[in-house]
Amino acid sequence: MGFADLGGLAYPWDSLTPFAERARAHPRGLVDLSIGTPVDPTPAVVRDALAAAGDAHGYPTTHGTPVLREAVVDWFARRRGVPGLDPDAVLPTVGSKELVGLLPSLLRLGPGDVVVHPATAYPTYDVGARLAGATPLATDRVEDWSGRGDVRLVWVNSPGNPTGEVLGVEELARIVAAAREIGALVVSDECYAELAWAEPFATEGVPSILDPRVSGGSTHGLLAAYSLSKQSNLAGYRAAFVGGDPAVVADLLTTRKHLGMIVPAPVQAAMVAALSDDAHVAAQREVYRRRRDVLLPALGEVGLEVDGSQAGLYLWSRPAGAADGEDCWRTVGDLADLGILVGPGAFYGPAAAGHVRVALTATDERVHEAAARLSGA
Ligand SMILES: Cc1ncc(COP(=O)(O)O)c(C=O)c1O
Repeated sequence: MGFADLGGLAYPWDSLTPFAERARAHPRGLVDLSIGTPVDPTPAVVRDALAAAGDAHGYPTTHGTPVLREAVVDWFARRRGVPGLDPDAVLPTVGSKELVGLLPSLLRLGPGDVVVHPATAYPTYDVGARLAGATPLATDRVEDWSGRGDVRLVWVNSPGNPTGEVLGVEELARIVAAAREIGALVVSDECYAELAWAEPFATEGVPSILDPRVSGGSTHGLLAAYSLSKQSNLAGYRAAFVGGDPAVVADLLTTRKHLGMIVPAPVQAAMVAALSDDAHVAAQREVYRRRRDVLLPALGEVGLEVDGSQAGLYLWSRPAGAADGEDCWRTVGDLADLGILVGPGAFYGPAAAGHVRVALTATDERVHEAAARLSGA
């Protein structure tokens, strides 16, 4: 991405506009598999809870209502293998993107501080580090930062966007041990955890950074961030949360109170409903599984191979046999000529410039249309 400074910070998706126009010109219309925005309806149980909380005359609580924090704690125990979280040590966020982008600033990191993030990553980790004046370090190798006193924050993203790779208990525990040795905070962005396709994760679940097998039973120096946008089709509500180290959460809470970074009360009520109902999440997972089963073989028909993608909402694809660094823009252009818009790997770091990201977030009709075009190409 190479943002030289924030003054020159371009929003990467804007550069996709010419390809979107090219794809839109297809006689049977655009199939947009670029930005992974949910297309299925928000579940009724969630919408009803939002509507019922429509009288919101007073200010909402920045910490989240006690009912919401209990729902988050119960969810961590039930769905993420994380028992016994302290309800005071969780906090709702206005979607998780603001947390990712602002965390280095909220933690008062700055010049001289290093923020580690995955080599191929959601760009907001890099942007957030730069916004704070800190130095981003893109690497998947613990050896690149272990023992370094200037490393203050280590981002983990498992399942990863865009690669769909999942880190196992041992890999996570190694990161935690190295970070604790240097006093760095590990924050794990886990928003695709409910969408695991490959074993052992589909059966056993995707491990959380707060899983006792990873954390050793202590949340010290650890935070897990989670978003309801994808699992519950409510990206428009802006509903997410973070939990873990009580001292870090308390510090974030104070800062967020000063800044007015508050989740609206009706959204807090909707989050309780979403977190308390596992059925809609399971149903949505099956919807995405079906779409994945249609798209995966269809990509193969045009010579695209899929790497990683054991979990999450994307098929991380590249031309079969392509060398690293092969131009993703050519693949984006070829697919745009079929009316299919995908995300260029270049958005996610130099190591990803040969890949394209194909999202599963289109209607069944559009997914079948894409598969038909790919098979006929
Ligand atoms: C890895 C990752 N983190 C965070 C987010 C932000 O999600 P939201 O702000 O909707 O919670 C996304 C969204 O695509 C993501 O892929």
